[in-house]
Amino acid sequence: MQNLQGRDLLTLGELTPGELKDVLDRAVAQKQARKMSQKPPVQSGKAAALIFMKPSLRTRVSFEIACVDLGMHPVVLGPNDAFSREETVHDTIKVLERYVDVIVLRTFAQSHVEEVALHASVPVVNALTDDYHPCQVLADLLTIREHKGDPAGLTMTYIGDGNNMANTYLIGGALSGMNVTIATPAGFETRPEIVTYAKELAAHYGTGAKLEVTTDHRAAVAGADIVVTDTWASMGQEAEHAARVAAFAGYSVDAALMALADPAAIFMHCLPAHRGEEVTNEVIDSAQSVVFDEAENRLHAQRAWLSLVL
Ligand code: CP
Ligand code: NVA
Repeated sequence: MQNLQGRDLLTLGELTPGELKDVLDRAVAQKQARKMSQKPPVQSGKAAALIFMKPSLRTRVSFEIACVDLGMHPVVLGPNDAFSREETVHDTIKVLERYVDVIVLRTFAQSHVEEVALHASVPVVNALTDDYHPCQVLADLLTIREHKGDPAGLTMTYIGDGNNMANTYLIGGALSGMNVTIATPAGFETRPEIVTYAKELAAHYGTGAKLEVTTDHRAAVAGADIVVTDTWASMGQEAEHAARVAAFAGYSVDAALMALADPAAIFMHCLPAHRGEEVTNEVIDSAQSVVFDEAENRLHAQRAWLSLVL
């Protein structure tokens, strides 16, 4: 087991493949222990600031429960509490680190969470930015392990917007050796520098992951082991919702599209889902869908992370 004490989780790309495997191993062990009502390692007396500048259901609840499970005290803060009243990031963090042992932040710009990490003497966790959602991809890799085995050599096809989830799947693929194809409509591709970053990680570690982007979602899904999608309009893009629904027409994950994947393929979605838009009821409610396992695994992955960094 690698020593992850004090480490930040900002993009997922800061982990080595070995460290990523250790986090997932820890999550598997703690999940089993929790189901048998065994207590996980206690971080008694430690506290966490959970700061949400955007809405959240899963992330907020799973982090709060993970903290309580570990014997920690979580404090949830919103936009009226932190980074408000024109207080600088520096001053906000210098105050918070006098009280808490870890800072978890959901915000808009990736530069915000990176600035927090720059000032913080305690570990910082990215709980979603416009660019990355590493906690979700940790949970998703755990879910893939449970349903399909080692992600190395499997093929994931992501269909939809080239957003924070698409970006982070590329990194998760690069580190785990899972092939990832991102299929988006023209104009909604993942940013080229993020694809380059992920490809450089795969090459650096020699994981063999093939990482690709395309606008041909039907070809991309052929034979896939994992089919995944996400909302077409992320938090912060609400005003673009109608225009995006029009632009993404035909990119719904429906039964006809799922039929092109491997017959044993699983369907994934980080949720919240917009049924009838990026996915049909038929697919999200099918036996292939593992979306609620993903949601549960947020708790196990994040608890493992907290127990390793603290
Ligand atoms: N998947 C996810 O991060 O959900 P929330 O936005 O509800 O936290
Ligand atoms: N891409 C989505 C993910 C929600 C968990 C968003 O950023 O809103």
